[in-house]
Amino acid sequence: MDRLVLQGGHRLEGQIPISGAKNAALPLMCAALLTRETLTLSRLPHLADIRTLSELLQQHGTRLTCEKAGTPLNGGETLSLTAQDITSTTAPYDIVRRMRASILVLGPLLAREGEATVSLPGGCAIGNRPIDLHLKGFQELGAEIDLQEGYVRARAPGGRLKGGTVHFPMVSVGATENILMAATLAEGTTIIENAAREPEIADLAHCLNKMGARISGIGTEMIIVEGVERLHGAEHAVMPDRIEAASYAVAAAMTRGEIELVGHNLRIVMTGSLDVLKDAGIGFRETGNGVVCRLAHGRIHGINVVTQPYPGFPTDMQAQIMAMMTLCEGASVITETIFENRFMHVPELSRMGADITIHGSTATVRGVKKLLGAPVMATDLRASMSLVLAGLAAEGETTINRIYHLDRGYEGLELKLGACGAQIRRETEPA
Ligand code: EPZ
Repeated sequence: MDRLVLQGGHRLEGQIPISGAKNAALPLMCAALLTRETLTLSRLPHLADIRTLSELLQQHGTRLTCEKAGTPLNGGETLSLTAQDITSTTAPYDIVRRMRASILVLGPLLAREGEATVSLPGGCAIGNRPIDLHLKGFQELGAEIDLQEGYVRARAPGGRLKGGTVHFPMVSVGATENILMAATLAEGTTIIENAAREPEIADLAHCLNKMGARISGIGTEMIIVEGVERLHGAEHAVMPDRIEAASYAVAAAMTRGEIELVGHNLRIVMTGSLDVLKDAGIGFRETGNGVVCRLAHGRIHGINVVTQPYPGFPTDMQAQIMAMMTLCEGASVITETIFENRFMHVPELSRMGADITIHGSTATVRGVKKLLGAPVMATDLRASMSLVLAGLAAEGETTINRIYHLDRGYEGLELKLGACGAQIRRETEPA
């Protein structure tokens, strides 16, 4: 397994191009299943999750053609996806277990073929992550759902879903995306109430409308979809990754450097994180290319933050803001409300000298003067990034093991940080 070795204490200065958003790219790729024609996606990040989903879509019969090879520094990959014929409506366990977002093929397959058999994703490090809201939503659209031997078997009587009203008792990004995609081909109108409002969902809806869907209320908690007979091909550029951008803004602040995040509409894209990052002391200045980030007055302010669905502070930034708060003046209280086990970075940060105490879903972080480099273990994607951030700011050497977690969500991390002066290298551990 690979590991990262960092020598901390170097100011980061330079530009970091922000890649396409992983959490927009994954549902967008699944949308290709909704049409026989070609969906061309550009600005795709080169990540393990994208490769895993490509493998899954191919086994459903999708033909993928790389139109432009992507590198972390050249604006990403352009991929054409053509699901002319669906050769299998089964999503097998050995792929789904590697990436739970595979569950997003369920809605498109059910809408296109009238049936789908998808392995239950199972939990992951950060929580149980059930899919009950997805399944209840499909039942509201007329689907019959059976759970057998670890698989969801879904069927639309008569081969086509019926529009209906889907009310989510709690906000769910994936369930909103799954129902939204399925509703585009349902017979009649679907109303999604208490829909998630993450920007990645709006990006998906805009792409679906380019494909001929009739979606209104995009970006609001009530989305209305008028079902159509079929969708056609389209071209779409994936939105920039707001979590990657905010993570590198924290890197600039923690190393007392200055980084220009290069990308389109980053300030808008970073809504949700921006206010909290500013309260913590980060200054943002827009340029023609993107946004320059630095610690505004040389001090990290202790803040109190609660993770919330969009437009609140994103749970995917919780581990990263905690890394920053380990060096704050005073103390910070961070409450995680979305996932039940998303503090696994805490013991690792503590090994680097952080002073953090946990009471249930709340962590109290008392600022320390400095962090000390240490060997640490990555446990999940965003926890891994918090360890990188701590390692960049710490005195001495930090080794981060199991960085396959990082490779799932941060394209070319050591390239991008290295280009800004970070002393960081990847080592491959002998098998
Ligand atoms: C998406 O996961 C993101 N993943 C996550 O990013 C992100 O943390 C999460 O949304 C919240 O913003 C992708 O977009 C691929 P949810 P998702 O359904 O859709 C519970 C990352 O680091 N729930 O909004 O799985 C669930 O257990 C990843 O990039 C149910 O109870 O999140 C959780 O507690 C991590 N039943 C809460 O809702 C359901 O049917 C929010 O989950 C569905 C969800």
